[in-house]
Amino acid sequence: MWRWWYQRLAKAKAWGEFGFMNYGFIDNNPPKLEPDDESDRLFIQLYHMNIRDIELEGKQVLEVGSGRGGGASWIARTYAPAQLTGLDYSAAAVKLCNRMYGLQENLNYVEGNAMKLPFDNESFDVLYNVESSHCYSDMEAFIAEAYRVLKPGGFFAWTDFRDEKTMNSIRTMFDKTDFEILKDADITQEVIQALDEISEQKKSRIQKGTGKIIRRSFETFAGVKGTPIYEAFVKGDIGYYRCLLRK
Ligand SMILES: C[S@@+](CC[C@H](N)C(=O)[O-])C[C@H]1O[C@@H](n2cnc3c(N)ncnc32)[C@H](O)[C@@H]1O
Repeated sequence: MWRWWYQRLAKAKAWGEFGFMNYGFIDNNPPKLEPDDESDRLFIQLYHMNIRDIELEGKQVLEVGSGRGGGASWIARTYAPAQLTGLDYSAAAVKLCNRMYGLQENLNYVEGNAMKLPFDNESFDVLYNVESSHCYSDMEAFIAEAYRVLKPGGFFAWTDFRDEKTMNSIRTMFDKTDFEILKDADITQEVIQALDEISEQKKSRIQKGTGKIIRRSFETFAGVKGTPIYEAFVKGDIGYYRCLLRK
């Protein structure tokens, strides 16, 4: 269902040229941004939080689940990786990214499946993944693929939401591969604060861009205040996590 939804969102006019589809993050140590990126600050901060302990300059980097591409574009512009490849299951999203960011030289977007990555073994120094893996039918296959395509010593930076039981099973999966877990943090409160801050802005964007019948679904998936996903974060039924791993 999530995957179907993101296919729709990738094409949605309500989001126009908007490059992000995540819940955002409030950061006590915020990154400096170019004036043009300020309107995307909370979404960029989720990316920044996820990769902030890793050196990216001159590296081969892969984002799995790059969505509308704004995160990959910001990272490629800001951290000078040799090449950053954004991969997404949605053909519509990849097409949009190539249209919006096709001129960035160290950046490319490809269509593909997280559970069967179209890359050779040991091709990347860094693989990161932002709010995408909750869509995958086989998380274990994705983790195995992440391990396979990373070079020895490569980093896997993962962030997403889960209920506690599923999160524990993911930790077991990380343990079962030879990944070393360097960081494991619960960032739910910082994500709720971001959702609070942008709820009204999201609502009015959705109101302008969507018909009445579909509006509530858009609001739900966008996590605006009062929707089940927002309430689940607040009640603690779902948490938002970040793990940094090394091969
Ligand atoms: C919530 S969006 C997040 C997009 C982006 N990371 C961001 O933060 O803006 C989740 C993305 O994961 C992608 N996705 C879902 N299942 C996938 C799969 N099996 N392989 C690759 N991408 C997938 C969706 O198409 C969607 O673009």
